Amino acid sequence: MKIRLLGTAAGGGLPQWNCGCADCTAARRTGAARSQDCLAVSGDGRAWYLVNASPDLRSQLLTAPELAPAPGTRDTPLHGVLLTSGELDHTLGLLTLREAAGLTVHATAPVRRALHSAFPVGPLLAPYTKAQWHTVTPGEPVELAGGLRAEPFALGGKRPRYAADLPGEDGPDRTDWVTGYRFTEEDGGACAVYAPGLADWTPAVDRAVAGADVVLLDGTFSTADELAERTGGARRSPGMGHLAVRDSLPHLARNPGPRYLYTHLNNTNPLAHPASPEAAGLLTGLLADLAAAGAAVAEDGLLLEL
Ligand code: MLT
Ligand code: MN
Ligand code: ZN
Repeated sequence: MKIRLLGTAAGGGLPQWNCGCADCTAARRTGAARSQDCLAVSGDGRAWYLVNASPDLRSQLLTAPELAPAPGTRDTPLHGVLLTSGELDHTLGLLTLREAAGLTVHATAPVRRALHSAFPVGPLLAPYTKAQWHTVTPGEPVELAGGLRAEPFALGGKRPRYAADLPGEDGPDRTDWVTGYRFTEEDGGACAVYAPGLADWTPAVDRAVAGADVVLLDGTFSTADELAERTGGARRSPGMGHLAVRDSLPHLARNPGPRYLYTHLNNTNPLAHPASPEAAGLLTGLLADLAAAGAAVAEDGLLLEL
């Protein structure tokens, strides 16, 4: 299995275009930027799938040599897209894929419904490309090309803000607005888990990470109060569907074995640029705890070969 981390920032990226905070300013100055959360995965190194489609997708695709079309052809190695949510930072890039001859999109029922109504990507794409939409259901594995299997697991009912009022068969108990995926190879080889939006560490997450080689997980915020402290607002990370790194670390200690990489880092998160002197002060202890748990911060462009 191969995984290319195309982007590792939360919505807005780093630097965020309208933010002049010390971190975004430093990122502008040093070029140490992060693009928005997205990855590509392949079972055989030939057939590739995107997981999420970020607003930065075009430039992300251009940086990944394995995603280039074969010379002299319009044959793309990209076979489809799997979505972990309907959030704009995970779906705006679908419109960037409109030049494709065909496009296969896997999403849960509520996400599919949102992408055909409140944010009508489905109808918008229809005149441009032949899109095929497939419903994924937590617990039901999806067999993909190249011997790759994706098993979705439910991570919660947090809807995108644009879909807050979406009517439908959507009770308050719906838990598949946000999902993670457990990727395995047909022959039982490598296993990777991707969960960029983790509201709570549930027993389903314990099951998903058991036996995994690598786990890419929600690193939006370093602590539950980080956003409030750094922006003067009142929003705490639990209400935003993101378990803070400080609060997921104990679960990593309970589930040793995999290599853990935090991704989807918000521009307020000092872990987004751990090498900076400002971050060092804020991160006293946290970086050591990360290392002790076998965890690290993901980087844009990283290629994992499992
Ligand atoms: C999230 O991950 O919580 C969302 O992408 C937030 C947003 O962009 O509104
Ligand atoms: Mn997001
Ligand atoms: Zn900023």
